[in-house]
Amino acid sequence: TDTSHIRNFSIIAHIDHGKSTISDRILELTHTVEERDLESQMLDSMDIERERGITIKSNAVRVTYTADDGQDYDFNLIDTPGHVDFTYEVSRSLAACEGAVLVVDATQGVEAQTVSNANLAMNADLDIVPAINKIDLPSAHPEEVKREIEEELAIPAEDSVLVSGKTGEGIHDLLEAIVYLVSPPSGDADAPLKALILDSYFDEYRGIIATVRVFDGQIRPGARLRMMALGDTFLCDGVGVKRPLETPVDVLGVGEVGYVVTGLKEPGLVKTGDTITEDERPCAEACPGYHEAKPMVFTGLFPIDNKQYENLRDALEKLHVNDPSLTWEPETSVALGFGFRVGFLGLLHMEVVKERLEREFSLDLIATSPSVNYHVYCTDGTMLQITSPQDLPDVTRIDHIEEPYLKAKVIVPPDFMGAVMQLVVDHRGETKDMVYLSERSVEMHFDIPLAELILDFFDQLKSRTKGYASLDYEFSDYRTSDLVRLDILLAGEEVDALSFIVHRDKAYDMARGLCDKLKEIIPQQLFEVPIQGAIGNKIISRSTVRARRKDVLAKCYGGDISRKRKLLEKQKEGKKRMKSIGRVEVPQEAFLAVLKVD
Ligand code: GTP
Repeated sequence: TDTSHIRNFSIIAHIDHGKSTISDRILELTHTVEERDLESQMLDSMDIERERGITIKSNAVRVTYTADDGQDYDFNLIDTPGHVDFTYEVSRSLAACEGAVLVVDATQGVEAQTVSNANLAMNADLDIVPAINKIDLPSAHPEEVKREIEEELAIPAEDSVLVSGKTGEGIHDLLEAIVYLVSPPSGDADAPLKALILDSYFDEYRGIIATVRVFDGQIRPGARLRMMALGDTFLCDGVGVKRPLETPVDVLGVGEVGYVVTGLKEPGLVKTGDTITEDERPCAEACPGYHEAKPMVFTGLFPIDNKQYENLRDALEKLHVNDPSLTWEPETSVALGFGFRVGFLGLLHMEVVKERLEREFSLDLIATSPSVNYHVYCTDGTMLQITSPQDLPDVTRIDHIEEPYLKAKVIVPPDFMGAVMQLVVDHRGETKDMVYLSERSVEMHFDIPLAELILDFFDQLKSRTKGYASLDYEFSDYRTSDLVRLDILLAGEEVDALSFIVHRDKAYDMARGLCDKLKEIIPQQLFEVPIQGAIGNKIISRSTVRARRKDVLAKCYGGDISRKRKLLEKQKEGKKRMKSIGRVEVPQEAFLAVLKVD
């Protein structure tokens, strides 16, 4: 089989540099989607992605491009996420490609994730096509950006294409560049099937559908196939490509990207990174697969209605098919009942998962304060890994605690260097060094505890640098810190789900901030509710929610029944999102109040 007319490439970039917009233009120019059907961010198929204007999941589509040489080329294009939480999605996509289009915003230049994504593509030995986007904007400075690409990324910039995802200018040149710069796939069409699973999702009717890249051989419906790592076999129920709607084909040939209907109904049977082969004639070696993405941030997820516990477990299993980085284990809270301790790649990932669980599985959930994975060394010589403040042993049993540190990198204009250094110090970090990339930008490196970064570091970085800073980080090591558990008492009762692990030096400020914040969030009750922060037996802060004087009905003079009913309905609505903790009604957002303390 001839693969010379196939091009497989990912579109990679720093967040918001315009990958999804460029993908839309490509779909349009190749008539994959008729203009009248074109919605913006066509490949962001989840509601959350469209609403937030971000890509969370990679998405593979097939477009056919008639090039200037008169020949038709099949492009398999993978749009990838730009946010640092989802870097693993980018590496997964790159493993299926020969090339990458590296999009750089002509008004912003090279930013933190431009560097890390370009490195991923170079390490994967891909052909890189730089695309300098947003050239329609008056503030675009493409020549300077070209220089940055060359100097900071060591990518030859004479190949770069100037484009505007908005006006469509240059997109044709970009498609031509892809034809000439990206190598066609190679592989043996007659060898036993070897196909890498890039992604999968659960379909209620057809079972699990896997997105694959065929490296050798071919896949036809009806074939008996096998998952190499997990060992299960299945009868292929169909194959196809996304244009961007699912379009069945007779065969997925060597070098192609497409989907396979596995018919498998058990969520655990398909694993991203696994290799699909033939049952009768397996290939000798599996694809290298993926590094497991390790969760860094953990929260408790509890159904507001405890009857939804089993549904939550079921939902996590199904979501896991589509989001393999998710981990969970049962967690019990005195205040919130039965739930799960769930591990995420970062805060954005956590928000997205909670929202998907609520929307796609109709659950009502409470999330508790995010925590990292602490290593607690006990006086008896054992080490406990804990991800929940509740699991912290009694202080008398603790010898010392270690917490995860990150190596972080910020790219920022020189004017803001001082502000960033201050911010790093405020968050217990340490600036290591900095390098001038150009007159316009400095790259700063620092070490910082992950726990500090997940609270409000990013928002503050954005506001203190007027949005100019970009951030990237990776796990570094574990270091000893003086950490304590801050407990919160409502009306004298300790609420386990509100506890929080914090550095001792910050405990007082945090306790005060949290008590004040909770005072705003917790509505008035019929009695006074003291809110207290404590370390061990010692109360270190206090605020009070005053008692409510009148009940809602007092507002209706006399007997306006319908108005009365409306008010009661409204009150009920409000109650639904509340959780009774002892005698106190606590709204959902109180459990994440720690994220809102300034
Ligand atoms: P993530 O998927 O979240 O990483 O973002 P992205 O890189 O896909 O960026 P997206 O395509 O969502 O574009 C980000 C913003 O830039 C949107 O508001 C677009 O409308 C805008 N934008 C994209 N391309 C252009 C362009 O060529 N010119 C102008 N003026 N705006 C553009």
